[in-house]
Amino acid sequence: MHYHRPVTPPATHPASAAPAPATHPPALEARAVRHGFGGQDVLHGVTLSVARGEVVAVTGPSGSGKSTLLHLLGGLDRPDHGEVLWGGTRADTLDSQGRARLRAASVGLVFQHHYLLQDLTVLDNLRVPGLLLRQDLTDAARTLLHAVGLQGREHAMPAQLSGGERQRVALARALVARPAILLADEPTGSLDSGNAVAVSDLMIALARQHGTGVLLVTHDEHMATRADRRLHLLDGHLSAH
Ligand SMILES: Nc1ncnc2c1ncn2[C@@H]1O[C@H](COP(=O)(O)OP(=O)(O)O)[C@@H](O)[C@H]1O
Ligand SMILES: [Mg+2]
Repeated sequence: MHYHRPVTPPATHPASAAPAPATHPPALEARAVRHGFGGQDVLHGVTLSVARGEVVAVTGPSGSGKSTLLHLLGGLDRPDHGEVLWGGTRADTLDSQGRARLRAASVGLVFQHHYLLQDLTVLDNLRVPGLLLRQDLTDAARTLLHAVGLQGREHAMPAQLSGGERQRVALARALVARPAILLADEPTGSLDSGNAVAVSDLMIALARQHGTGVLLVTHDEHMATRADRRLHLLDGHLSAH
């Protein structure tokens, strides 16, 4: 049996002549971001853009400002100068409440430490972002726990999990609201090499599958070589690796 689609009217109807945007806005953008502490600039004007589904690795020596950059890009701090945009929306001009709400919808964060809430089960940890979004994320949480191989552990407490498992829960939590961008600051830095490979492979696979942009700070060559693009931060300037 053949199904005939209705004929679509031409898109150039004069009453709707406004052109559709050719592409999605980048998942993340930084424009001339400058920031310092105590009068000393750490970042001297960083500009970058991460597309949806693109994985970008940032390397650089200790103290070069990688964590500072991720904090600014994640809206945990506000840049002294410049702009930060999530999915095309300015984040740096919002007040802290507006930024927290937009962040919950747009940005996933993973750090070296998992920062799970110790008194909540694995599943409840994943439902926490839904409180800010006023959404029940239970179904999304279960799907992601399955995707990170932790089905059946949803009622476990974080203390009952291994380090690798806790970091997989942190990764699932970061992705549960389907953010445009995942920011990860040395996410495998406290894991043994076997778990580091497992968690980094999982992170990149899930991000690609969900079309999430990833900006990843890492010392881990395995992770960095799996990125689509590499950037290097040195003396407050970001450049292609
Ligand atoms: N909250 C802060 N107050 C003062 N100085 C800071 C603060 N955060 C970072 N710095 C300084 O900024 C520089 C960059 O730090 P950081 O971003 O943590 O580097 P990285 O993550 O590359 O190791 C360092 O000199 C550090 O001491
Ligand atoms: Mg750091």
